[in-house]
Amino acid sequence: MATNLRSTTFNSGPSSTEADDEGVQGTCEDASICKRFAVSIGYWDDPYLQHLVRLSKERKAPEINRGYFARVHGISELIKAFLRKTECHCQILNLGAGMDTTFWILKDQDLLPDKYFEVDFPLIVTRKVHSIRSRPHLSKPILELHSEDTLQGDGHMLDSKRYALIGADLRDLATLEEKLKKCNMNTQLPTLLVTECVLVYMTPEQSANLIKWAANSFETAMFISYEQVNMDDRFGQIMIENLRRSLANLVSAEAAAADLPGADMWGPECCPGLVSVYPTFQTSLPRAAAALPAPVSLPVK
Ligand SMILES: C[S@@+](CC[C@H](N)C(=O)[O-])C[C@H]1O[C@@H](n2cnc3c(N)ncnc32)[C@H](O)[C@@H]1O
Repeated sequence: MATNLRSTTFNSGPSSTEADDEGVQGTCEDASICKRFAVSIGYWDDPYLQHLVRLSKERKAPEINRGYFARVHGISELIKAFLRKTECHCQILNLGAGMDTTFWILKDQDLLPDKYFEVDFPLIVTRKVHSIRSRPHLSKPILELHSEDTLQGDGHMLDSKRYALIGADLRDLATLEEKLKKCNMNTQLPTLLVTECVLVYMTPEQSANLIKWAANSFETAMFISYEQVNMDDRFGQIMIENLRRSLANLVSAEAAAADLPGADMWGPECCPGLVSVYPTFQTSLPRAAAALPAPVSLPVK
């Protein structure tokens, strides 16, 4: 996969790297709008997303809704399994979190880890910080667990006792680590790292560095990575075309998850595809998803 497909378009504008980063940041909007739409028609419950993301007028295809349901449900089940295993005495690092609402949902379920960290590009974090500070539905749950009346931080970050939101580039590991430590990341605590459709926007080498950093930094850790793989079929090609049109290159799309660089530094790994995992969700499928015919293909495999 070429990483410079759009460079000629941007000769007089921002550098291709800046333009690529802008496109990648745009994927946050795409993902959260798709999730918001699926939530609005009953695929799953999320009372917090509406405070972070607008509702798009455009309807999404059932395959998209079902794909997002499977993605959110699958990751949520794994997160909860980790929390139960550690009796919540752990920390979670959601890397490339976008407008993710897991922190608020876990709080409602009384399943919060000792601390929940979110990281994304500063631009995305600034938007999220603004929404949190201006919406009591988002700020109150954080303040309830905090020892002070106000949240610490500036436009690019927010820190509290149980939740931190950090603006950082996942390709700059020294700065990432420094910022996490400033927010009291504890490398001795069992740690769950989550990347949900994030590594695919970095080169295999950059992903490898992040995975190796994580493997070397924590005493006990688990890594959940949900990424697009096997992109050479028709569905994958259409997805790549759509993303290119909206300025984001899937720079790692050629790297199969099983070959994820750095993955060999972790213990036993498993890499199931959605097509095999989806049928195991049948009992928890919401009515809207269960009533539809079985998907022929899913957005992310
Ligand atoms: C497809 S969105 C997914 C967002 C969220 N994980 C979800 O599934 O709703 C990819 C996210 O990764 C973030 N991201 C990608 N590369 C990054 C990097 N190098 N540093 C920080 N964030 C990054 C983007 O800004 C974006 O929010």
